[in-house]
Amino acid sequence: METVETIDALRARVRGWQGEGVALVPTMGNLHAGHLSLLSAAQVRAARSIVSVFVNPLQFGPHEDFARYPRTLERDTRALAEAGCDLLFVPSVAEMYPLGPPATRVQVQGLSETLEGRFRPGHFDGVATVVAKLLTLAAPDVAVFGEKDFQQLLIVRRLVADLALPVQIVGAPIVRDADGLALSSRNQYLSPAERAVAPRLHRALADIAAALRAGLPDAAACAALEQQAVRSLTQAGFRVDYVAIRDATDLTEPRAGAPALVVLGAAWLGGTRLIDNVRVGA
Ligand code: PAJ
Repeated sequence: METVETIDALRARVRGWQGEGVALVPTMGNLHAGHLSLLSAAQVRAARSIVSVFVNPLQFGPHEDFARYPRTLERDTRALAEAGCDLLFVPSVAEMYPLGPPATRVQVQGLSETLEGRFRPGHFDGVATVVAKLLTLAAPDVAVFGEKDFQQLLIVRRLVADLALPVQIVGAPIVRDADGLALSSRNQYLSPAERAVAPRLHRALADIAAALRAGLPDAAACAALEQQAVRSLTQAGFRVDYVAIRDATDLTEPRAGAPALVVLGAAWLGGTRLIDNVRVGA
């Protein structure tokens, strides 16, 4: 596996692969089995795989964890080489944003304002801007994103559709620990006591999903399910940002007959913010 740090070197490598399929997996590093599952999904869809590792300052709020976000490039490089990745792209902030914070931003309106967007204003503009740039630089045929960040996946799909970018977006299933906790680079912030409680977030969402499999109840009953989950999580020691039952195609309030739903949640344990979701239906 080769590692490149500049846009010019990335473009030169990709040019050399003309005619071969190229797949991109964008990450912020500190790779775990969830990230590596995206690489596997990329490798079955394209002859060449690129993983990018870039902790994107644009998508962190002023009081968020940009400075302390875990950076483990040596370990990440070894894991990617072992997994058969072809190219690792690790640009610096100056390489990605040479003129300082970019004046040109990509904003996916509507989808970016709900759920995560309400609690992390500007976050998805930062994500959309960097993803648009990475897709332009690597010009992949396929790009793989995890369903762990379900709203992000829908935003990327919409961005690609709106800009008619010639790339197929693939969503990969959530990889979990044995006790149900979704793997996340932020899990390592959890104390042992918090780690023991953390799987309850998944359980609360899965319980709602199980109830919904019998059929979507009316809006009042949906709200009651959400509130019950918030209460039980709060009792367990979480500070809940939201638990929400939504249409899986566009994150609107679900209507009777919606073919696919998703139950999403975000909650804090101490200083660590966890997100998760469980799909219901197609
Ligand atoms: P990061 O949090 O590093 O995640 C990179 C990719 O891995 C995302 O598509 C995310 O959904 C996926 N992922 C994370 N945990 C996962 C799990 N347990 N199972 C399956 N997939 C998982 O998401 C970002 O980085 C950034 O916002 C990025 C898209 C790179 C833009 O900066």
